[in-house]
Amino acid sequence: MFSRFARKALPWNVIRRRLLSTTPSRRSDALFVHRDTPYNNPKVAFEFNVDNMKRAKEIISHYPPQYKKAAVIPLLDLGQRQNKGWTSISVMNYVANLLEMPPMRVYEVATFYTMFNREPIGEHFVQVCTTTPCMLRGSTDILNAACEHLGAIKPGQTTKDGKFTVIEVECQGACSNAPMMVVGDDFYEDLTPESTKRILDGFKKGKKPKPGPQSSRQTSENSAGLTALTSEPYGPGEFCQPDFQ
Ligand code: FES
Repeated sequence: MFSRFARKALPWNVIRRRLLSTTPSRRSDALFVHRDTPYNNPKVAFEFNVDNMKRAKEIISHYPPQYKKAAVIPLLDLGQRQNKGWTSISVMNYVANLLEMPPMRVYEVATFYTMFNREPIGEHFVQVCTTTPCMLRGSTDILNAACEHLGAIKPGQTTKDGKFTVIEVECQGACSNAPMMVVGDDFYEDLTPESTKRILDGFKKGKKPKPGPQSSRQTSENSAGLTALTSEPYGPGEFCQPDFQ
């Protein structure tokens, strides 16, 4: 069918060009580029403490010696934990040296996985999931409540006292308990703006609020109650329910 905007026939020697739509590029190098700063440059010393060195050796021993670079992710994670939650260039160089890998290979891993924070973070790292299932159940309100309650910071920012960093993250795999956030290594689920503020207040006071669903339900049981397997199961040897006999 011809559209009413159909172009007029062009002379044979005019080159037809297909119009492509493009989106403007996002002008940010925050995720991929390292620039030396006073707190993040290769001269800042880093090495595993005794306990983490023991753990690192244990992790490396899980792989054949010629494949020990396979330990790069757990070792970067170990380094990040020791380095107050962020992966500096010194952590990456140290891991590269330990695994006898070209440093560039380690940089590639650390810049690909967004779980490696390449800038310092607050003492409590608050990650609010805003992917569709959480968004449909109110994650925008949760994110706003967290940011407002912590002194009108924006997602990606750290509070002035260095206690909290809030970011938005993609699905954390707890969709049945949406909306949710992660603080440190713990999941806080079935959130409301009020329970979010209560949890953050707990951390402010130096306590660790109980993780898991903040509603009355246990784990991820159906919030509407039992809707299946509600009748007495038929016994062994009975292959059909009474209706079909
Ligand atoms: S969408 Fe939020 S945990 Fe899956």
